[in-house]
Order: sequence, then structure tokens, then C-alpha cells
Amino acid sequence: MAPLVLRLLGLVPILLGLAASQDWKTEGSQDPFEKCMHDPDYEQLLKVVTLGLDRTLKPRRVIVVGAGVAGLVAAKVLSDAGHKVTILEADNRIGGRIFTYRDRNTGWIGELGAMRMPSSHRILHRLCQGLGLNLTKFTQYDENTWTEVHEVKLRNYMVEKLPEKLGYALRPQEKGHSPEDIYQMALNQALKDLKALGCRKAMKKFERHTLLEYLLGEGNLSRPAVQLLGDVMSEDGFFYLSFAEALRAHSCLSDRLQYSRIVGGWDLLPRALLSSLSEPVLLNAPVVAITQGPHDVHVQIKTFPRARNLKALKADVVLLTASGPAVQRITFSPPLPRHVQEALRGLHYVPATKVFLSFRRPFWREEDIEGGHSNTDRPSRMIFYPPPREGALLLASYTWSDAAATFAGLSQEEALRLALDDVAALHGPFVRQLWDGTGVVKRWAEDPHSQGGFVVQPPALWHTEKDYEPYDWSVPYGRIYFAGEHTAYPHGWVETAVKSALRAAIKINSREEPAFETASPEGQRQRQGPAHGVAGSPSSDLAEEEGSHPPVQGQLPLQHTTYTRTWH
Ligand SMILES: Cc1cc2nc3c(=O)[nH]c(=O)nc-3n(C[C@H](O)[C@H](O)[C@H](O)COP(=O)(O)OP(=O)(O)OC[C@H]3O[C@@H](n4cnc5c(N)ncnc54)[C@H](O)[C@@H]3O)c2cc1C
Ligand SMILES: *[C@@H]1O[C@H](CO)[C@@H](O)[C@H](O)[C@H]1NC(C)=O
Ligand SMILES: *[C@@H]1O[C@H](CO)[C@@H](O)[C@H](O)[C@H]1NC(C)=O
Repeated sequence: MAPLVLRLLGLVPILLGLAASQDWKTEGSQDPFEKCMHDPDYEQLLKVVTLGLDRTLKPRRVIVVGAGVAGLVAAKVLSDAGHKVTILEADNRIGGRIFTYRDRNTGWIGELGAMRMPSSHRILHRLCQGLGLNLTKFTQYDENTWTEVHEVKLRNYMVEKLPEKLGYALRPQEKGHSPEDIYQMALNQALKDLKALGCRKAMKKFERHTLLEYLLGEGNLSRPAVQLLGDVMSEDGFFYLSFAEALRAHSCLSDRLQYSRIVGGWDLLPRALLSSLSEPVLLNAPVVAITQGPHDVHVQIKTFPRARNLKALKADVVLLTASGPAVQRITFSPPLPRHVQEALRGLHYVPATKVFLSFRRPFWREEDIEGGHSNTDRPSRMIFYPPPREGALLLASYTWSDAAATFAGLSQEEALRLALDDVAALHGPFVRQLWDGTGVVKRWAEDPHSQGGFVVQPPALWHTEKDYEPYDWSVPYGRIYFAGEHTAYPHGWVETAVKSALRAAIKINSREEPAFETASPEGQRQRQGPAHGVAGSPSSDLAEEEGSHPPVQGQLPLQHTTYTRTWH
């Protein structure tokens, strides 16, 4: 009886909160934060992802470095427009930070990388729709999940209503408000700034402050309230990073938003993109050097002892989608300009770590949990529950930024045990007997190809408010273009990688050759040859310097896409 009443009471502020945010929404694009972060070219990108690019009259040879979602999307729209695209991927699989673990014994899946898309990501929704992928609800919030801090454990419907019960000495006006509402209270000052200064100036100001400074200072929250947001909303990952980045992240990441996921696993997205390509993807082909000349660009792949002489490929343009650290390991000649090198070094990657544990049964169902996440101040921090009827592979820990440190350097066994201890602390010691002894640990900071989770920038203290301009990655350096999660906003989302890829593809499709090139049209015609531009023409006319090796073709049937063709 009592719990039921409390639960109903718990609903009231949620509903009120929803009504309030709904009010805001009905003013349409009036939401000042949303308006500020809106991409001016969003509708254009939506159009390209729906209808494709204009078919080219000047087919180019394009090499895409990286078969993550950015590389695959760019390759798809460029090859659909008639360009000749080759993808080079360092890893033995496609997808990059979209990576679905599939347990062979149980058939259960776990998303080691991306797992949810907010409803506002219309470009990504459209892309999935166009590829025939089915989407379903991702349950971000379930009121029956737990929050446990300072040894106090409460259901989240209680935390929404009375977070002070967790032992935080909140100020009177902070009590009785959900953590999300407390955060919104603090944002009021930022809202005033937006109105007074306008988007550009306000964001420039926000770029120079940390979230912590803002919340305690202008946000005027008490220390316990800030601690609460850190513990319960994982805002602590942003505390020492830029307030502007926290705002961008919050626009996509909140328990109040609606999310979708891809039925059957997120890796179906890269697979579907691959099957829609008529062009090859080379796996185990890490690019190590890129040389630009007046007429073309040479891309060198690391040679393995038994790689049959494949050394360099020639193209008209190269699109780099590898992460910042991975790009820094490539040798460029001529070297990248100083400002590009500085921008690359200036990218700040936070680690991101997931630990999955496989249980014999979904014991959380006995507590009426059907999804969403529990929070704990123990090392595991966030526990996400799989949807009903989709097995018992539990995301026992998802940490990022500073919170990932507790898992750094541990052995696989130690990491699994640490997560198990925390699940047992939250749900009871009986879960130890239900663990089947298996699990998966993915630490993206230690991934040899990503070398980081995703980008979250620290405050831009190098700059004054006046001269701060974020680096514009959409500007190519000669024949070299850039795309990927790190090259657009908000960082750390699949849709961002897709947007950056579409932007690069638009630029490559409308590329004019520099003057010195058109001065020798003879050479140009010879280089391109008559076969170019014919869709599905064999890839062998892609110039190779020494020898050739049959590339992995894009049109692989689904079950073959995990096929690892090696160059060793
Ligand atoms: C733990 C985690 C959870 C996430 N959750 C979500 C989520 O729920 N929703 C969401 O929208 N986003 C999420 N993201 C972010 C999202 O996964 C990324 O933003 C997106 O997948 C990045 O795509 P990309 O193509 O830019 O980069 P990547 O996917 O990293 O692709 C780059 C590719 O380049 C390859 N490469 C590197 N070096 C070389 C080289 N020298 N030569 C050739 N190839 C090379 C890499 O192997 C890789 O395949 C999450 C990320 C992480 C890490
Ligand atoms: C999507 O759902 C439909 C209807 O249930 C089904 O026929 C189709 O195979 C599904 N597609 C994918 C890619 O799962
Ligand atoms: C900040 O909060 C305190 C405590 O509630 C209040 O007394 C003070 O007036 C507030 N300051 C501003 C600038 O709003």
C-alpha cells in the first residue's frame, strides 16, 4: 500500500516536469538552447540522406580512411553519386565505435559502443529508415530502477520526488525537486545569458567555463546539489570540462528524452551500409602515410610481412574519418599545416568503458525493472538493464570520463569481478550465484584504433572570449577532407558522425580542381580514364603502385560481413 502511494506521489513531479517541458516545446523552435545548437544546414543534410547527392559529371577517385559510420555513410552517398570510392579500414571489422557483441551460446547481444538515439536525431532516423532497419524504443528511464549513494538505496521514483532522502543537505528551495529540475534551475542563468548576449556570444562565454564553475557560480546551486547531479546524473564526467560541451550533451542525453535503438543490434547499421555499397572495403588496412601531389594523392597502407606487395593507392581525394589520435599517427607529406596539427592535438578524448555480465536469468524483472538504468556511487556507476525478453546480458557498468578510471588497468577478470560486486551490492548477494561466469569488458581508451571514447572539450582557456572560434573541420587541406564524431557537434553521437560525413561528401561532390590542375586537362583525362564513373566498374582501375590484391567487396551477404580478410 505505502509503496504504491509513494509511487503515485512520485509521478506527480514527473508529470508536472513533463508538462513544463512540453510547454516549452509547444513554442516550437523557441527553446533557446535547442535554437542555439541547431545546425543551419540540418535540413539540407536531411535532404541528402534521403535523396542522395546530385549525380556527378566529374567522377573522382575517393579513398575513405576508416569504416566507422562516418566513413561508410560518406562512401555510400559518394558512390551513389557516381564517384569511385575505396574504404581502407585498420581493424578486422567495420563499424568502429558501433560494435555489437553477440554471445554465441545464448544469442544475447550487448552494445559495446553506441546503444541509443534520441528522437531529435532525425537524420539518423531517416538513414536507418532508408536502409530498411527497424527501430524500437530504447528505455532510458524506468522508475523502478535504483539509486544507491552513501549506502542509502532508493527507487528512482523516490529520487525524482525527494532526492534529499539520499542524504544530500540540499537548500530548502532545492528540496523536493528532481535532479533534472535542479539542473534546469541552474540553467536559468545560462538562459538569461542566451537571451541577453545572443547565441554566439553566450556559447563563446560558455566555452571558457567548466560545468562545475558554472553550477556553483552563476547556477547558484549548493555544493550538495552539485554533488547530487554529479552522482545521480553522471554530470561529474563534465565537471572539469567545458560548460558548452555539457549543454550540448544535455540536449541529447537526459532521462526526460525519448530514445530508439536498432532492432537486432546496432551493427546492422554499418552492415546495411556496407551491403548498399558497390565498392570495396579493405580490412586490416591501416593507413600510415598520405602524400599529396599536384595531380593526385597517394595513400600508403602498413605492409605486413606477407602482404602481397600492396603498398600505395592513388586517388583524387582522401577523406579521413579516423579519430584524432589515429590521424596523428599518419605521416603526411607535405605535413599538415600547423593549425590543423594543433587542432588535432587539441582534441580532448574521454575514456568510455562498458562491462557486461551474463546472468542465468534476468533477476531484475523480479523487481519490476524493464529497462532504464540504476545509479551507484560505487565504481560501476551506471547499470543498464536489457529490454524484456531479450536475455540476461546486463550492462553492469557504463562509465566515462574520470569515472572510467576505476576500471583502467584491471585485468578482464578483475573488471568483471568489480562490476559483479557492485551489482551484488545493489541487488543482493544472491546475484553472485546467478552469474554464469562470463562477460565482456570494452575499454575504448585502450582500443588500438579508436584510442579514446569520444571527444569532450575542456574550457577553451587558450583563447579570449572574443577570438575563440572552434576549429572548422569542414575545410579541406588540399585533397584531404575530414569527417567523424570529433569534427562536428555535439561530440560523441552517431548522428554527429553522419552529419560530418554528409558535409564532407557534399564538398567532395562539388569540388573544383585547383587552377594548376585544369592547366593540364590532357593529364587529367588520362588519369581518370573512361571507366570512371560507371557504377559498379571493377575496382582494379583504382591505380595501385605496386601489385594488386583483390579487395573485399562491399556486396557481401549479411552473414559474411564479419568475415575478416587479412592482409597478413
Ligand atoms: C561507449 C560508447 C557509447 C556510445 N554510445 C552512443 C549512443 O548511445 N548513441 C550515439 O549516437 N553515439 C554513441 N557513441 C558515439 C558513437 O559511437 C560515435 O560518435 C560514432 O560511432 C563515431 O563514428 P566515426 O565514424 O566518427 O568514428 P569510428 O566509429 O571510430 O570510426 C573510425 C574508423 O577508423 C578506423 N581507423 C583508425 N585509424 C585508421 C587508419 N590509420 N587507417 C584506416 N582506418 C583507421 C577505426 O578502426 C574505425 O573503424 C558512443 C561511443 C562510445 C565509445
Ligand atoms: C523489420 O520488420 C519487418 C516486419 O516485422 C520484418 O519483415 C523485417 O525483416 C525487419 N527488418 C529487419 C532488417 O530486421
Ligand atoms: C543564491 O542562492 C542563495 C541561497 O538560496 C540566495 O540567498 C542568493 O540570493 C542567490 N544568489 C543569486 C545571485 O541568485
